[in-house]
Amino acid sequence: MGLQFAYWAPNVSGGLVISNLPQKTGWSFEDNKRYAQIAEENGFDYVLLQTRFFASYGAEKQLEAAALASALAASTKKLNIITAVLPGLWHPGVIAKIISTIDHISNGRASINIVSGWFKNEFIGYGEPWLDHDERYRRSEEFIQVLRDLWTKETTTFKGDFYRINEAPLKPKPINIPKIFQGGNSKAAREMAGRVSDVYFMNGNSLENLKKQINHVKSLAESNGRNIQFGVNGFVIVRDTEEEAKQVLKDIVLHADKEAVEGFESQVKFAGKASPEGEGMWAESTFEDLVQYNDGFKTGLIGTAEQVADRIIELKKIGVDIVLTGFLHYDEDLKAFGEKVIPLVREKEAKLEGILAN
Ligand SMILES: Cc1cc2nc3c(=O)[nH]c(=O)nc-3n(C[C@H](O)[C@H](O)[C@H](O)COP(=O)(O)O)c2cc1C
Repeated sequence: MGLQFAYWAPNVSGGLVISNLPQKTGWSFEDNKRYAQIAEENGFDYVLLQTRFFASYGAEKQLEAAALASALAASTKKLNIITAVLPGLWHPGVIAKIISTIDHISNGRASINIVSGWFKNEFIGYGEPWLDHDERYRRSEEFIQVLRDLWTKETTTFKGDFYRINEAPLKPKPINIPKIFQGGNSKAAREMAGRVSDVYFMNGNSLENLKKQINHVKSLAESNGRNIQFGVNGFVIVRDTEEEAKQVLKDIVLHADKEAVEGFESQVKFAGKASPEGEGMWAESTFEDLVQYNDGFKTGLIGTAEQVADRIIELKKIGVDIVLTGFLHYDEDLKAFGEKVIPLVREKEAKLEGILAN
């Protein structure tokens, strides 16, 4: 199967990098509707809506993911719409219903991204318990089991440590069973992915580290008799020359909003670093890495269209199925990526497949 392309909906204000460099990227419904329509006309397969309730990494204003997803479902025709959801702030029965509703509005184009949380202030702010790192994953796994059961079984009964469901129905069933994506890189995250998720989303990283992660999670899935797909985040800067593209990255970092990056840094210590093994997302991120809040510079999608397409082919070779993109200027960059980079990737993929077939 060909590589698939996703983009982050800018459903929070401030763009995709924590920088005061001007970003032509809006966060409103009208902006997001326009971006979704541009994306589906230009070769993108998925849009991902992040879940955020309080400001962090800038992001002063946030539109709620599921509510916006249902509006995008009604204003698009082809895109698959991935709604991020935080177990702990929602009940899985309520979310199963909401995602099933979005699936009906979109005629079978709803997916979900289960995020297990790193932003303690949101939980404190809403007065909900903040669990230990690995307990959050145990809760997420139960959450996913309940979702799947509700979407596929006539009635669901579930007796877990976090959720109890008693002969609950769910009608209508989704038209297509929504794909379950999952973020998180710690040991607990990887093991959960191997057991229950359809797609494992990774923060940006070097090819070498991504390859290690992919091979690990793939073997965990195989030991459970399952198949899993892989998505990776990458911040895209395409310019006519490599120097120009690299200069844009330098300017983004030079104008970084230092206070916001440091505030974000102090919150992400509750992610991978807080796991028993001390590894996982952001555990090794530098200041520059954190300016793109999902380590998107590390993936190396910065250069000419040709260089970026080559890099994407390298990602494919190590087992990436979905490239999750973010941009500086959504209005122009989404379209340019679809016009300049995706066709090159398709050419290179065809060549690669030819080589593999011979
Ligand atoms: C592609 C991707 C998207 C994510 N989206 C969100 C999000 O919308 N909201 C959120 O709070 N966390 C989000 N996360 C964070 C993760 O769910 C998780 O909290 C984080 O990866 C820490 O994982 P770890 O402690 O297992 O390493 C995302 C992670 C990835 C890789």
